[in-house]
Amino acid sequence: TVDRVDVVAPPVLLAAAVRGDLLDAVPGYRSAFLRTFGGLTPENGQKMDVLQPTWGSYAWAASDRLVRFANEQRLPVRGHPLVYWDQLPRWITRPWVPWTRAELRAVLRGHAYATTRRYRGRIDRWDVVNEVLDWTGRRRPSVWQNVIGDGYVEDAFRAAHAGDPGARLVYNETGIEFPSPQQDAAVRLVADLRSRGVPIDGVGLQGHLDVDGPPSSEDLDAVISRFAALGVGVEFTEVDVSLPGRPTTDVLARQAAAYATVADACWRHVACDRMTVWGIGDDHGWRGRDARALVLDSGYRGKPALTAVREGL
Ligand code: XIL
Repeated sequence: TVDRVDVVAPPVLLAAAVRGDLLDAVPGYRSAFLRTFGGLTPENGQKMDVLQPTWGSYAWAASDRLVRFANEQRLPVRGHPLVYWDQLPRWITRPWVPWTRAELRAVLRGHAYATTRRYRGRIDRWDVVNEVLDWTGRRRPSVWQNVIGDGYVEDAFRAAHAGDPGARLVYNETGIEFPSPQQDAAVRLVADLRSRGVPIDGVGLQGHLDVDGPPSSEDLDAVISRFAALGVGVEFTEVDVSLPGRPTTDVLARQAAAYATVADACWRHVACDRMTVWGIGDDHGWRGRDARALVLDSGYRGKPALTAVREGL
């Protein structure tokens, strides 16, 4: 492992998932985002059900607005996600006539190409495939997996690269922060893609964690090192840390400690250059209001977790 202290490396960027629909609608949301974070991921605005609601016709407007906002603010955007098993339009999951493999491949490649091509030079990295493996390490069933087979992952990377040869292309996965058969399979998948010249540049660790049982520093060192050894970058892409119950001082301190462990692990490895949290404030968190999983509270005030992340990065 090369430690960050051994080289001159830029600091780690702290970013957040943003909902375009809240940016102008919710008082305080935009300013809280701008004063706290240095980059963004559209939380839902680039999922396929949003971008391609009917076959072959794209609805770019909302995504364009969010990307324009980020570009104007000079904040980097992680595009998310090109190929995902969830949040698909009905024309894909419930076709009138069952897909042939060739047809669905054309749909996948067309979507990945059109989207990366549209944002060429304006979105610096993409989650090309999101959640490929299940917790046992087998391929997760999805329309892509079921109809196209294992090769859909390679198809997605090659089409995204054709659309924007300059973008950093990422495989984003959930639940691989801990040692497990799923993590082993993810390492094998990336090694296989790299060995065959598939244009993959990075791995995203989602980091949806719980106060009870977060990964240790050793766990995170190990997983970052495994991927870095394959020559790809690593980043934390969707971090949140849910609380088990009431937000007592003790629980908030343990939440801060979990955030610090992630930030610190990222900082220590040169391969890790960005940590994105999955939302701005606890009122709109994906884990639910009561989970209070984010670094700002419902009034967009910084929690102990924010202080911890800032110190860690
Ligand atoms: C979630 C959003 O946060 C929710 O608003 C939406 O209802 C469902 O999707 N892994 C991912 C994200 O990669 O895209 C998911 O986002 C959360 C899990």
